[in-house]
Amino acid sequence: MSKASAAVVPHHIAIVMDGNGRWATRRFLPRLAGHRQGVESLRRCVRACVARGVKVLTVFAFSSENWNRPQDEVSGLMELMGKALVREVPQLTNDGVRLRFVGERASLSPAMRAALEQAEAATAANVRMTLNVCFNYGGRWDIAQAAARLAERGEAITEASLHAAMDMAHVPDPDLLIRTGGEKRISNFLLWQAAYSELFFSDRLWPDFDEAALDEAIADYAGRERRFGRTSEQLQQEPPAPMRA
Ligand code: IPE
Ligand code: IPE
Ligand code: MG
Repeated sequence: MSKASAAVVPHHIAIVMDGNGRWATRRFLPRLAGHRQGVESLRRCVRACVARGVKVLTVFAFSSENWNRPQDEVSGLMELMGKALVREVPQLTNDGVRLRFVGERASLSPAMRAALEQAEAATAANVRMTLNVCFNYGGRWDIAQAAARLAERGEAITEASLHAAMDMAHVPDPDLLIRTGGEKRISNFLLWQAAYSELFFSDRLWPDFDEAALDEAIADYAGRERRFGRTSEQLQQEPPAPMRA
């Protein structure tokens, strides 16, 4: 494996932040305590990514399928998100982080929609790192809504036009996709954009995913050979330009 073939620090890291519920259950705490701790872990992760020069961090916070959870967990998660938005914006701005929400907004409450828009507007001028929070997001939803948008405009459906119509079109595809919590599945995250992401599965539960765990994932990534369909020999002659939007 060639260590030189992947940039040491990924431009874009995407994370399925899984394991909050188990973290709480192991401590005989309600699941929501795990989600609260998950917000702390995200705060630490954002700062660590900024410090390491990551340009885009995309996190899966609430999936289209998470509406199937018990009602009190869903409303607890909504409340947690609303509170975190208000609390975190000043620190995000201090750290130069631009916040973007990715996902379907129509089925969120008007108050939640307004809070998302406010947080985006308040951080719009920050340029150090973009933090995409996938909220009420599903990869299938993003592909379908992009196709519907193109059909409505009467535009041809091509890989490029679909890509451009997606909710994730403002950032290049993730270089490294991490899932914590031990499960080895995608769970409807970034189905289109992860086509050539390097995958890293960590057994750590999300609240326990600290800087050292992040560095382990980045070090693993740095040792990968990203071939994009070509051969090792070709890469040694001419390293590929990463696929960028
Ligand atoms: C991920 O943690 C957070 C959300 C899905 C909102 P989980 O709540 O799925 O934690 P586990 O998988 O039950 O441990
Ligand atoms: C994926 O985790 C969604 C988020 C992390 C927000 P889940 O815990 O919901 O995934 P499944 O249902 O176990 O696949
Ligand atoms: Mg889970």
